[in-house]
Amino acid sequence: MSDDNTIMLPGADHAVVRPPMLAERFDPLAREIYALKKQLNAVILAHNYQVGEIQDVADYVGDSLGLAQQAAKTSADVIVFCGVHFMAETAKILNPNKIVVLPDKDAGCSLEESCPADKLAALQATNPNFWTIAYINCSAAVKALCDVIVTSGNAEKIVRAAPADKDLLFVPDENLGQWVMEQTGRPMTLWKGNCYAHVEFQSATLLRIKAQFPAAKVVVHPEALREVRELADAVCSTEKMITYCRDNPAKQFVIVTESGIIHRMEKECPEKEFICAPTFDVMKMPGDKCRCSECKFMKLNTLEKVRDCMKSLAPRVELPEHILKRARLPIERMLEISVR
Ligand code: 13P
Ligand code: SF4
Repeated sequence: MSDDNTIMLPGADHAVVRPPMLAERFDPLAREIYALKKQLNAVILAHNYQVGEIQDVADYVGDSLGLAQQAAKTSADVIVFCGVHFMAETAKILNPNKIVVLPDKDAGCSLEESCPADKLAALQATNPNFWTIAYINCSAAVKALCDVIVTSGNAEKIVRAAPADKDLLFVPDENLGQWVMEQTGRPMTLWKGNCYAHVEFQSATLLRIKAQFPAAKVVVHPEALREVRELADAVCSTEKMITYCRDNPAKQFVIVTESGIIHRMEKECPEKEFICAPTFDVMKMPGDKCRCSECKFMKLNTLEKVRDCMKSLAPRVELPEHILKRARLPIERMLEISVR
């Protein structure tokens, strides 16, 4: 650790790794978390959608891919996963002998819910030539049934690398799947799941926002509907959204994803303006305040719950041995293809 209390984790070149630890210096709760972190030899991994206070105490903040990569190489004894359940499960699958805790065990995901393992197994049984590609937003049991995992940050690359003689089955996000098909030209059978938060964005609302901010670049997550993606200047994962906004000379950006990401954007690009796309029709509801999209699952986590899960080492992620073993294969395949 350097004198100004910042650290860089090896290999974490693109994401916020450790902001100056002002939070620990001034906030008693953050100070308590920092002391627990040292005592437990813990690492705090946080998704880009977490509330700002959590991002500020994390060792690493990033997208699902970056978080999986960090989990794969951590030397910590305890992983405190500030995100949703499937992300913490992925960290556990990569670290079966470490303790993985998450602040709120109910932090689920509508995509994960949409795809129960027994239903997927039944569909797989209808075609022995299926090669199953699962978006990381699914349960460990579903991962254990799949050939490879993807995130929004590497889905295109991984689908391009899929065996040419196989029939591709993509689960569980039909919008991400549709976008990847558009990018690669590779047909896929799509599971009919979606992110309840991202499908709330509508093209009519976005067109009005674009008219209001004509110079702004529009950045959209691929979980959004096609009608919304078609209005984008860039469609990408949350991590790539941050890089895009940092590197693009534009001064204003309309951000079409969960609003928690704005914290990092404002921190990393203080000279730029980020407009959180509203999820309601501005013209039909004049005077209403912007209700930017929030993922109710991501927002279950609070700084208090981070402290509590570190104190009690619970809730803890535990998975059956056979799931841990089988689910590791498609995740490792993803990590391997991602660095090629
Ligand atoms: P990213 O991997 O792009 O951060 O997306 C995760 C997610 O859950 C989006 O809703
Ligand atoms: Fe799941 Fe959507 Fe929340 Fe992401 S934003 S965790 S996809 S419900």
